Amino acid sequence: MFNFDFYNPTRILFGKDRLESINKFVSDEANVLITYGGSSAKRSGLIDKVKTVLGNRKIHEFGGIESNPHFETLVKAVEVVRNEHIDFIIAIGGGSVIDGTKFITLASSYDGDLHDLLKYGFTPIPLDTIGKSVPFGTVLTLPATGSEMNNGAVISYAQGKYSVFSELAFPVFSILDPTLTYTLPKTQVANGVIDAFVHTIEQYLTYPVDGRVQDRISEGILQTLIEIGETAVLESDNYDVRANLMWSATLALNGLICAGVPQDWAAHMIGHELTALYNIDHGQSLAIILPALLDIRREQKRAKLLQYAERVWHIGKGSEDEKIDLAICRTKAFFESLGVKTNLSGYGIGADKIPVIIKQLEAHGMTTLSETRDITLEISQKILERAL
Ligand code: NZQ
Ligand code: ZN
Repeated sequence: MFNFDFYNPTRILFGKDRLESINKFVSDEANVLITYGGSSAKRSGLIDKVKTVLGNRKIHEFGGIESNPHFETLVKAVEVVRNEHIDFIIAIGGGSVIDGTKFITLASSYDGDLHDLLKYGFTPIPLDTIGKSVPFGTVLTLPATGSEMNNGAVISYAQGKYSVFSELAFPVFSILDPTLTYTLPKTQVANGVIDAFVHTIEQYLTYPVDGRVQDRISEGILQTLIEIGETAVLESDNYDVRANLMWSATLALNGLICAGVPQDWAAHMIGHELTALYNIDHGQSLAIILPALLDIRREQKRAKLLQYAERVWHIGKGSEDEKIDLAICRTKAFFESLGVKTNLSGYGIGADKIPVIIKQLEAHGMTTLSETRDITLEISQKILERAL
């Protein structure tokens, strides 16, 4: 196992009827900004409920944070935080609103050109660059990204998606109430299951380093998602299933399973280009890329692919390659059972677009991806060809 630091200060408030807990963690004198997305949180009455809990505190609102949140939108919220002297933010929504809010809080305390904050990639922004940021909490409405308990954000700018990390970007608290997911459209639930699944895979399915606890927690998350995935999509008000989905998604990307083990993230990086270029949902982009990537990378990932086949899919018979083939096939079938297409062609993307995607990967410096940094543009091209 590799050396690691593990730090996660986010308080999770899990279960039904938890909104009142906001009172414990937001001061009575706070000047609060509520951030939200399109209209779902307004329509469901959630924003009004949060405002009721906030009572006499001064409240401002910033709505319209779109999926794959855009730099330009977020910069407008930074103005509100600065001009109104906001001292606490509550993000109500899915990964996009939470990521957007992380950027808003970091950017509000940064004196330089805000574009600078997009330049760090996977390197955390040095703490002294920001100084002190406005604390924030979240009310999660879409289980998927893990953003509610991690310090990362993905921000769209021009035709790219930029990762931003900072210790100052951990939420103070996150309210995880599974009933808040009941209004989700089926496609978003499916996206969430796939996102959580692929997060787990990107940290588990690399090469063995004898991280036994990390492996078994990962296998537990994967098996849970396989067990509940279809029901989560079909039964919108199944509390226990939605509760298991929510907690799986949080645990899949809160720093626990990546501690001390290698991490891949190539499916995410290639997937981000599909979203930026063709507006394919994040979860869908992963459903397209992951099965193709596992196939192309079967030699580098052989030992872990066999472990995945045996322990997650219980495939006991056959040669090594037959086991691996079947595990990849089952993974693809699982995504499709959720109603998500797993080929580029299913989204109207043909071979003629592959050079465009490769050019964008190059432009964004994505030329040495994976746990061993050896996915070159040529290999990304092969993965995309396999995904046709
Ligand atoms: O905007 P509204 O009207 O709220 O509708 C949203 C949006 O259209 C809707 N929605 C959310 N909760 C709902 C609901 N509709 C009805 N009822 C509810 N309870 O769902 C749509 C999608 O929301 P979004 O937040 O965009 O989805 P998701 O949570 O999948 O987030 C995707 C973003 O997270 C980033 C992705 O790149 C993408 O930008 N990621 C963030 C990560 C992180 N911070 O660690 C890691 C991930 O890998 C991912 O990259
Ligand atoms: Zn993801």
